[in-house]
Amino acid sequence: MALSTKHLLGIKDLTPQDITLILDTAKQFKEVLQRPVKKVPSLRDVTIVNLFYENSTRTRMSFELAEKRLSADTLNFAASSSSAAKGETLLDTVNNILSMKVDMVVMRHAASGAPHFLAKHINAAIVNAGDGINEHPTQALLDAFSMIEQHGTLQGLRVAICGDIMHSRVAMSNMYLLHKMGAEIMVAGPPTLIPKYLAQAMPVKITYNIAEALEWCDVANVLRIQLERQNLPLFSTLREYNLAYGVKKEQLEKLSKKITIMHPGPINRGVELDSEVADGNQSIILHQVENGVAVRMAVLYLLANREK
Ligand code: CP
Repeated sequence: MALSTKHLLGIKDLTPQDITLILDTAKQFKEVLQRPVKKVPSLRDVTIVNLFYENSTRTRMSFELAEKRLSADTLNFAASSSSAAKGETLLDTVNNILSMKVDMVVMRHAASGAPHFLAKHINAAIVNAGDGINEHPTQALLDAFSMIEQHGTLQGLRVAICGDIMHSRVAMSNMYLLHKMGAEIMVAGPPTLIPKYLAQAMPVKITYNIAEALEWCDVANVLRIQLERQNLPLFSTLREYNLAYGVKKEQLEKLSKKITIMHPGPINRGVELDSEVADGNQSIILHQVENGVAVRMAVLYLLANREK
């Protein structure tokens, strides 16, 4: 089996078969990662550049570790310490890197569509590691992997996506993936952080009441408030956001069932998620991070082998 696409630009472009193939392959790599020797020779002689124009902890380190576990050669590029800071364009930067015989590009950029633009101009396979407010496909894949580990299937699973939907590429990628794989979706948050077009664009339930979403769902994926993407205030204060929309231990204790708590990170503790919930026994946040390595190994492996 092979992926239907040369690049991973977004979940929007994947078929359900692609998603299943990536998740099944990730399961095999997760088994490899439990062994004393965690390294396989699958991508020996493949060179990958991690091109990060925006800050990252989890995604950048997870891709780098996935590449190392697959025996690929890796290059790391941080825009702030590169000639991009002197004005070099994205395309010039990438063409210069590719001229050094680099095979694949993993890319994070603040501009939505930046990896799609690059895909029109270069031959190397591109993996989108997050573009603006558009998509973060490997986050949605690792979220799906973690939900399946916890609940067995996505089919019919009730997933509430809570918080700053408007500025979240994680929300977009999760919604595309969950819909393709048969899950039910509810989004919950303040009216100012839920796009008005969403109900027309996606088959999702919408609520402005977090308690209603928590009572309805099997899994709550709580999103970070993305203050860096808000030019104008969209809610009064962080304290008031926490009071109205933050997920708290007392709320979970009142529910009729034990739900799973997820968060893509980084967490604004005491804003969208209280520490007791983030660190509590219903949280799988660190499992998500662990699963990210296996999922990224699967994506890189499948794209590299499609090229051969
Ligand atoms: N979840 C996520 O994308 O985290 P980073 O920004 O740290 O990569």
